Amino acid sequence: MDILTSPGEMHTWRWGCGGTVGFVPTMGYLHEGHLALVRRSVAENDVTAASIFVNPLQFGPGEDFERYPRDEERDLALLEQAGVAAVYMPRAEAMYPEGFQTSVETREISLPLEGASRPGHFAGVTTVVLKLLNAVMPDRAYFGKKDAQQLRVIQRMVRDLDVATEIVACEIVREPDGLAMSSRNVYLSAEEREAATVLSQALFEARDVFGAGERNAAALRDGVQARIAAESLAQIQYVSLADGETLEELAGRVERPALLSLAVRFGATRLIDNVELAL
Ligand code: PAF
Repeated sequence: MDILTSPGEMHTWRWGCGGTVGFVPTMGYLHEGHLALVRRSVAENDVTAASIFVNPLQFGPGEDFERYPRDEERDLALLEQAGVAAVYMPRAEAMYPEGFQTSVETREISLPLEGASRPGHFAGVTTVVLKLLNAVMPDRAYFGKKDAQQLRVIQRMVRDLDVATEIVACEIVREPDGLAMSSRNVYLSAEEREAATVLSQALFEARDVFGAGERNAAALRDGVQARIAAESLAQIQYVSLADGETLEELAGRVERPALLSLAVRFGATRLIDNVELAL
């Protein structure tokens, strides 16, 4: 497995590739969710590249950039076992050299939900993802649906800027008890970890109620809100029922595919999760 640390090295590697290149961007501390993306890329492409870069631009002041979990040695072993041919691990100075001053931003799609709770977060994501796509020049790039808004923001950017990479959306991978996999789950105490199962339970119950015919947006949203509020360790940041494409909050009847999503804190740990409500 090749390790590349600068855009120039990455370009040289890419130009030497025959066939299709799949790409899995990550911030490391890999779990089954990342590995599912890698396996799909390996199955669908001739060669797969991954990246490991904890991107300072997408963390706000007071967020967990400094303490974000890292384990490069383990990550590289897992990527190699999964069939990755190259890992792009740029140093921060290679990514953002002195004088760097460009930002890539989407507008409306990045304003609600995570964008409202984490100002500047999506500009950091789109800027780094475009730089990663420019370095790797993949045919396909794989993103998980857990970061539902991130996925939509990146799809929008790629369409708007004519990036020649297909964005492949992959299903959320969950622990056996339903908790969506996340590198941040390691921050949870045993008690918080147990309490956090309420998130997927509330979302799945709402999806069942929707499946049984409930179409009232407020009733669906309030059901999730009440279920989570009953868990004393949970501090809700938002519960949203939004248009599945534009992420505009829905009122009245749900007549289009929708996204039911939430952000909830357990102690110092902020978790997100969602389900799609398909008509
Ligand atoms: O989802 C992530 O891990 C990050 O936001 C990404 C896409 C690797 C950009 O830093």
